Amino acid sequence: MTKVAIMGYGVVGSGLIELIDKNREKNDNEVVITSILVRNKEKHKNCSHYEVITTDSEELFSKESDIVIEVMGGIHPAYEYVKRALTLKKHVITANKDLIATFGQELFNIAKENSVSLKFEAAVAGGIPIIKALTESLCGNKVNAIKAILNGTTNFILTKMGSEKLSYDEALKEAQKLGFAEANPEADVEGYDAARKLAILSSLAFDKSFKWEDININGITEIDSNDFKYAKKFNCKIKLVAEAVKCRNKIYTSVKPVLVDEDSILAKIDNEVNGVILNGDEIGELIFIGKGAGKLPTGSSVYSDLNDIINCRFSDIGSFNKEKAEMINYAHKTCNSILRIRTSDKDEVVSRCRDIFNNIKIIDKSLKDEVVLYIECTSEAYVQKFIETIKDEIYYKGCKKLIFI
Ligand code: HSE
Repeated sequence: MTKVAIMGYGVVGSGLIELIDKNREKNDNEVVITSILVRNKEKHKNCSHYEVITTDSEELFSKESDIVIEVMGGIHPAYEYVKRALTLKKHVITANKDLIATFGQELFNIAKENSVSLKFEAAVAGGIPIIKALTESLCGNKVNAIKAILNGTTNFILTKMGSEKLSYDEALKEAQKLGFAEANPEADVEGYDAARKLAILSSLAFDKSFKWEDININGITEIDSNDFKYAKKFNCKIKLVAEAVKCRNKIYTSVKPVLVDEDSILAKIDNEVNGVILNGDEIGELIFIGKGAGKLPTGSSVYSDLNDIINCRFSDIGSFNKEKAEMINYAHKTCNSILRIRTSDKDEVVSRCRDIFNNIKIIDKSLKDEVVLYIECTSEAYVQKFIETIKDEIYYKGCKKLIFI
């Protein structure tokens, strides 16, 4: 018999509990839920296991448990609870990317000191078993690059805005209704959630520690219907892509909306689906695609961690404790882009661009105080430098850059 205490009975918690109940017959080892911590007990009146639901964390810790599962989300008090559980020598499973990306190093050390496992398959890419792939299946490889769609909410919003012409607000509301978005969707739409997940994957892939805040992050809040119109002209879709690429002894990391060819793999990953494209030195390219958010896909990953611990497949993750990765913000590779430059002098901007870039094309000059250009350039750093240079001109009002990858 394995005794389990669960913190949180929201989207992920209810998916997990459904899977525990559904898989009872399959498992020789009976899973007994001894306690479930919630904020409001009344809300769960009609839920299964109501008799063990509590609003008191002390009550949860007073009940016997071998494994504590944290699916409440947020940093506090999840951090304090996880730390306490590990110190009490309980295995911990968490779906919390914020927690792992921010306090991974400390928590894995505590787990090691107490000879218990801290597992987190559900923290990245929902139902895709990407943590297991990186920590176990690919251990004979050196990973060179990760290119991924890691946030279901923003992928859902971009899909709905692009194909169904929904407004940003309408699409976000639908994502919230379906349980994909974070309690505060700022983390989704500003790209922080994807950056945290990228930092976790990068640590495991490159065996170094990554601070998610050091990643070059751009969200999707500035994307409007015209961007989709311009993307379409080039047979492209807009996707929020997270990338980590080895460049000699440094790692280029970025989370930003980019233009992807309609025929590419990334373009075919729509709605809340996530995708991770890995490049390993021995295996070559590997592609993982699956639901990245939602009750049962995420519950499925938490359940798999539970099953591992029940079957004594423990893990000891050391990457978060390794030397800090040296990160760079711009890749040294061809950077063709659409630049939407807001300006009071469109002709001057076009002329400046002609002087700087090899090839430019005017896409749209009909908008008030804005000129839209296609430019070809040998490096993103160079494009960025150009933007920095014209920032001081009095005719400059702002610039949006969408890169083709
Ligand atoms: N808000 C997250 C997403 C949930 O949309 O991907 C899964 O981590």
